[in-house]
Amino acid sequence: MRRTLAPVRPELNRRTFVGASFAVTGAVAASPLLAGCSAPEDPDSGQTARVRLQVNGQPTDVTVDTRTSLLDMLREDLNLTGTKKGCDQGACGACTVLLDGKRVVSCLTLAAMHDGAEIRTIEGLADGGRLHPLQQAFIDTDAFQCGYCTSGQIMSGVGCIAEGHVGSDAEIREWMSGNICRCGAYTNIVAAVSKAARGV
Ligand code: FES
Ligand code: FES
Repeated sequence: MRRTLAPVRPELNRRTFVGASFAVTGAVAASPLLAGCSAPEDPDSGQTARVRLQVNGQPTDVTVDTRTSLLDMLREDLNLTGTKKGCDQGACGACTVLLDGKRVVSCLTLAAMHDGAEIRTIEGLADGGRLHPLQQAFIDTDAFQCGYCTSGQIMSGVGCIAEGHVGSDAEIREWMSGNICRCGAYTNIVAAVSKAARGV
């Protein structure tokens, strides 16, 4: 005798499954428990803040996402790309700038925290057409190779000289130790800082 095998779940085929799914999701959406819930916020949409700064002596008014680092604001919003991004986590010193006269790694601080501050970057170091003495000393002592670390080294060197930590090569090395040079130009960098500090 011929037997017809019945499907195990004759009610479930593609058409009924899709129909059932719509019914379920429709019921969930209509649930009063979920009324008022909305889709998660776009993670790219942050709050903004208006920041007024003196950047290299120029009054500067910029609106930034509150999550923007000082480094990214300088590079992306103000187009001051002389300040370099090396590690973006405070380990290399390539992003060093002067903030109210003190050297900071600009990748580790938020732009929105510095309303009213004075920022000096490598672009603001020369006096008109005349290089800053430390910029000139870097040239004179051949203190760079690829140059990627150089603006951070120079800004840090300016801070180091202003702080008076230039009594010896060893002291300069110690107080410049947060600035990494992958090319290993340290001997000449120390010579440049020493030369500028002595004004020779
Ligand atoms: S990029 Fe800021 S310390 Fe390296
Ligand atoms: S000159 Fe190349 S990293 Fe310093």
